[in-house]
Amino acid sequence: MSNKIFIDACLGKETSRTPVWMMRQAGRYLPEYKKVREKAGDFLSLCHDPKKACEVSLQPIDMVGVDACIMFSDILVVPNEMGMELSFVKGEGPKFSKPITTQEDLDSLLDGKNASDKLIYVYETIELIKKQLADDKALIGFTGSPWTLATYMIEGEGSKTYNISKKMMYTNPQLLHSILKKVTQVVKLYMERQIQSGIDVVQIFDSWAAAIEPTKYDEFSWRYMIEIVEYLKEKYPHIPIIIFPKGVMGFLDKVYGNFDVFGVDWSTPMAYAKEKLGERYVLQGNMEPCRLYSKEAITECVQSLNIIMEGKRHIFNLGHGILPDVPVENAKYFINECRRVSEK
Ligand code: CP3
Repeated sequence: MSNKIFIDACLGKETSRTPVWMMRQAGRYLPEYKKVREKAGDFLSLCHDPKKACEVSLQPIDMVGVDACIMFSDILVVPNEMGMELSFVKGEGPKFSKPITTQEDLDSLLDGKNASDKLIYVYETIELIKKQLADDKALIGFTGSPWTLATYMIEGEGSKTYNISKKMMYTNPQLLHSILKKVTQVVKLYMERQIQSGIDVVQIFDSWAAAIEPTKYDEFSWRYMIEIVEYLKEKYPHIPIIIFPKGVMGFLDKVYGNFDVFGVDWSTPMAYAKEKLGERYVLQGNMEPCRLYSKEAITECVQSLNIIMEGKRHIFNLGHGILPDVPVENAKYFINECRRVSEK
């Protein structure tokens, strides 16, 4: 047993209660985040400033009482450091000025070691957090999945339809695979450097998994994540790995791989996920984030999740990220309810 219940739970060990954290817990719902963000100027400058990034990573630990700290950064720093110019336009989200349309575009980007070497500010943020984080809290490092990163690299921004990426999937799959391969190489080394810098757990966000039809999901997303899992598990078997593929109920029968925790999104019933995956993987999730607007809705869901999971092989979380207009008080209430109902 370790002194971190989060790590014990990830590894399927019995714990005194079910641990809890929230996806996107370091962010705009916290007034203290907004202050630091303001001082930093734009969002990317905050990511590039290890001292400030460390400060906002630690905020939710003290303010809402979660069991794990997720380092503050963004998934898009990876394509950015591969050489794609990135900006965050207020109210519009991320934008790459020159999306990838050809093999030559892809060839002009930095590969594995060169790109991962440029992400030093992330490694420095991790080192700073590690020094200040209480011993009983776990530090989560993360990456976007190759597919989710590729959608931004191809579309140039967020998308509702993913039509450019999916046109490539059906008309030029070779180019899409070349992009996915190159990103996978970078992510392997990037996650390895995060581990060497001090993270305790890895989470891979496949936020746009649901854009792929279930029969194509393995070919264009899952197998690349598992390639990363295998690379990391061979070298760092003690580091738990969480995979969060959003909206893949139609793929649960086909899930495979040597990772530890499956992140269940809010559209998948927890009882269904437990039936399909509960014996092989610890499950994380999956309260619908908008329940955070109502205390009654929070209690109802937390109690029901606790009954389904029986306080075993489970990590409480939201089924996707917390939204910026959630009252901090309700976020605290969620964390306290998870502690209250699961305490043994
Ligand atoms: O607590 C944490 O999780 C903080 C670290 C974190 C951020 N982004 C900070 C952030 C993490 C883990 C992410 C992951 C991320 N980034 C994902 C996958 C997770 C998911 O929610 O599915 C994705 C798809 C992105 C890409 C991204 N970054 C978008 C689409 C946006 C704009 C969102 C918006 O509402 O404006 C961002 C910006 C971003 N990343 C913010 C934060 C706190 C908001 C920026 C700001 O302060 O204005």
